Amino acid sequence: MSAQIVRRDVVVASLADLKERERIVFDVDGTEFGVYFHDGEVRAWYNVCPHQGGPVCQGKIMPRTVQLVRGEGGLKSGGPGHHPSDRNIVCPWHGFEFDILTGKHPADQSVGLRRLPVRVEGDDVIVTV
Ligand code: FES
Repeated sequence: MSAQIVRRDVVVASLADLKERERIVFDVDGTEFGVYFHDGEVRAWYNVCPHQGGPVCQGKIMPRTVQLVRGEGGLKSGGPGHHPSDRNIVCPWHGFEFDILTGKHPADQSVGLRRLPVRVEGDDVIVTV
């Protein structure tokens, strides 16, 4: 006898509601995940941080921190600043950050969030759980 994984599509939200709230966290039969709308894109990530398993989807959404440059030729540090459009999810346990659209850690692209299939049909946001 072999084990079988059964997945199903679940309508979790309206696109209009997700756009307004930017992120909604769900628990569907014990599977926790966050669904995000950013820059015209929709993503769904398991609510498990790759660092130590924290509830990453319940963390703040922040602009990506960048190092600004100033001066002629851009050779001087302008101190820290924020990217105008890139957003990171910040894990509430220890502050690891992950790009909201790629799920990758900004300093180590081999570390990232686990993705769930998500699509939009009409105004329905549908996640395959
Ligand atoms: S568990 Fe997320 S940063 Fe440590």
